[in-house]
Amino acid sequence: MKNAVYAMIAGLVLVLSAGSAWATSPEDALKYRKAVYQVYKWNMDAMAAMARGEAPFDAERFALHAGRINAMREDAIEGYVENSAIGDTTSKPEIWSQWDAFMQRQNAFEQEIGKLAETAAGGDARAIRAQFGAVGQSCKACHDDFRVSR
Ligand code: HEC
Repeated sequence: MKNAVYAMIAGLVLVLSAGSAWATSPEDALKYRKAVYQVYKWNMDAMAAMARGEAPFDAERFALHAGRINAMREDAIEGYVENSAIGDTTSKPEIWSQWDAFMQRQNAFEQEIGKLAETAAGGDARAIRAQFGAVGQSCKACHDDFRVSR
């Protein structure tokens, strides 16, 4: 009987620890947020080339790139879990100690990229260029406050 109880407890512990393997580890969270930002960068670079005239302006492609970032605009935030200011990060600790200010930067970015997705769908090159600049500024405003420059 005692053995059966021990076996049950051991089984329960196994189940619980297997369960916790599904919880986000700080390492994975860091990788995830960096990966999301790389997606932003790839698409921003493609739009920047068009905005600067280094690549032919194509409103449809512009809308595609803006739409991708817009669809993932909230995603990086999920990666800022507790205790993930670790490893190869350029996040400042202020993100966690001044979360509201960090989220203000995030909200500004979400608004600007939302507007860019809308403007890009309209196809007016001049308006698109202007709004693209506003998105770039919203990335930079957050980086200035919350990211260590290397
Ligand atoms: C609300 C704040 C915030 C906004 C908005 C933001 N970033 Fe960042 N970004 C960060 C922080 C913080 C890091 C550092 C992440 C880390 O290493 O932990 C970062 C890292 C990055 C990185 C480096 C990722 C890596 O592989 O190390 C790139 C590239 C980047 N951001 C691009 C962008 C672009 C482009 C935009 C706008 C389209 C943007 N970010 C918007 C805060 C922000």
